[in-house]
Amino acid sequence: MSEHKTYKVETLKVPKAWKENAFIDKDKYEKLYEKSVEKPDKFWGKEGERLDWIKPYTRVKNTTFEFPNVSIKWFEDGTLNVAANCVDRHLKKRGKQTAIIWEPDDPKTPAKHITYRELYDNVCRLANVLKAQGVKKGDRVTIYLPMIPEPAYAMLACARIGAVHSIVFGGFSPDALAGRIEDCKSEFVITADEGLRGGRKIPLKANTDTALQKNGHVKTVLVVRHTGGTVPWTDGRDVWLDEAMAGAEAECPPEEMNAEDPLFILYTSGSTGKPKGVLHTTGGYLVYAAMTHQYVFDYHDGDVYWCTADVGWVTGHSYIVYGPLANGAITLMFEGVPNYPDASRFWQVVDKHKVNIFYTAPTAIRALMGAGNEHVKNTSRKSLRLLGSVGEPINPEAWEWYYHVIGEKRCPIVDTWWQTETGGILITPLPGATKLKPGSATLPFFGVQPAIVDADGNILEGEAAGNLVILDAWPGMMRTVYGDHQRFVETYFSAYKGKYFTGDGCRRDADGYYWITGRVDDVINVSGHRMGTAEVESALVAHPKVSEAAVVGYPHDIKGQGIYCYVTLMSGEEGSDALKKELRDWVRNEIGPIASPDQIQFAPGLPKTRSGKIMRRILRKIAEDEFGNLGDTSTLADPGVVTDLVENRQNRR
Ligand code: PRX
Repeated sequence: MSEHKTYKVETLKVPKAWKENAFIDKDKYEKLYEKSVEKPDKFWGKEGERLDWIKPYTRVKNTTFEFPNVSIKWFEDGTLNVAANCVDRHLKKRGKQTAIIWEPDDPKTPAKHITYRELYDNVCRLANVLKAQGVKKGDRVTIYLPMIPEPAYAMLACARIGAVHSIVFGGFSPDALAGRIEDCKSEFVITADEGLRGGRKIPLKANTDTALQKNGHVKTVLVVRHTGGTVPWTDGRDVWLDEAMAGAEAECPPEEMNAEDPLFILYTSGSTGKPKGVLHTTGGYLVYAAMTHQYVFDYHDGDVYWCTADVGWVTGHSYIVYGPLANGAITLMFEGVPNYPDASRFWQVVDKHKVNIFYTAPTAIRALMGAGNEHVKNTSRKSLRLLGSVGEPINPEAWEWYYHVIGEKRCPIVDTWWQTETGGILITPLPGATKLKPGSATLPFFGVQPAIVDADGNILEGEAAGNLVILDAWPGMMRTVYGDHQRFVETYFSAYKGKYFTGDGCRRDADGYYWITGRVDDVINVSGHRMGTAEVESALVAHPKVSEAAVVGYPHDIKGQGIYCYVTLMSGEEGSDALKKELRDWVRNEIGPIASPDQIQFAPGLPKTRSGKIMRRILRKIAEDEFGNLGDTSTLADPGVVTDLVENRQNRR
């Protein structure tokens, strides 16, 4: 990668061309930001007008972060429908305009262009199918689909009738799917025969059937016919979606929803326990998703916008479906992967559809950077105007490569920091307003008040490093953990009372710029996928030969973090390469391929304190190959185990 080292951008001033095009310049940012935090009711009251309301709100902000009485309500007396805002209201002006461009996995399969009118028909038909199956307002519908247009139809169909969708990423295992169906007591599942990624088939329907062996309460499984592959079938429960939609009416009146009615649940990992069902509601979420999509990506009418995330993650929810469609945008959905058929694929898609705005994750950028510039140089990319990054810290080398090689110094990079819980982007440059620094997510979006605290919760001023908290509510934030409000309050508001704790470490430089340094809890970020180390540990200990396991993250060139597992075996069991493979397959099976361990070290014992607590600090150091500096080990019950762990470490540099 030496050829990239010659680039060096320290601070990039906003060029005139960007400023002229953009909605927000520096003056406007500063004025509006001040207003947004000083007069939130006025500021958000005005912003709320970007949506069509059935009954306009009279109250804007009613929120408190006070522990333990945390309560978040925005636009609470207003009513609206999300699908009507994302589809119906565009029909007059944009009925014939493309809403969704679908680019399939195989470049030889034709792409689809779905107009707003076609989107309307599909959403209404699917909504009527759901109703005919007995789905009612407030019911949960689980969606387990690949990256085809149907998940967008399904999300909007749920929103249209007031059902609450819960999307489960298509890469999750049957067990993970079963847990998520169980937690929200969903009686309806929408899946497909098979998914397709990089030429490989993913048996979604078969996985669903396996998951449903444990969930007797599911009444209906709607199945999208995608690859045409043969699938197991249960009469009376399974329904082909195309057949049902063909027989359904293409009109379905949108349900009048309160701004605080639930819109969706999305499961995400924390440092302890099972994944949490993050609950987002209707009005505030959509206002925030639409507004951030417009200003952060500087979205202008007619722009072709492509976010490469999967709809199974929050980025797909807010920035493939809800934000763009609320803005009447053209949003591209890509079924495939960056390196299939080869590493030019992203840029070929950019050229094919004349993409103007491109939003991806650092892990993809690093992988493509490693594949070599020849895969970029054989494409034009002239249509690109803006580049975005999300999901994990972007290292300056990758930033520079993205900026110089992909964008040819023409495109600003918006490094957007946010979380499943935040619903939308919180810290980000605005392309016409913010000087860029490679590796920094820069400054807060309107209405967002970040702060850095020390271990005791004291707010640090000026240049500082510590933990990142947010001081007051914004409209797009989660409202609760589904079915467990106490867990919501404990997880996010108890560490630093009265403040939302992000779980991230952060540094602020002399210019007030924020640099996110990564998670400070037991959550790891592997290729932009968020995972609790505890989830991988419980998968490992479920294996009959494993007695104990401890999992930590370690720096990985492409994935950002890799998964390092220390495994203690049952007595009489021997560690071997074959057993490593067995354990790797086991974890893939239990959680999904994204949780596949990168390193497994068999250990006769784990470093524990006398009270039996595993000292993860030591395990992290050894996994990082930083064993020379293990810190104080005198409190260990048996300091001898450390010697063995160091001797048999797997990640040697
Ligand atoms: O650690 C931060 C990291 O991803 C976490 C949130 O993960 P998730 O809920 O899956 O949402 C990902 C997509 C929004 C954060 O706590 N993260 C996300 N974006 C960035 C980031 N870290 C650094 N820079 C970012 N731009």
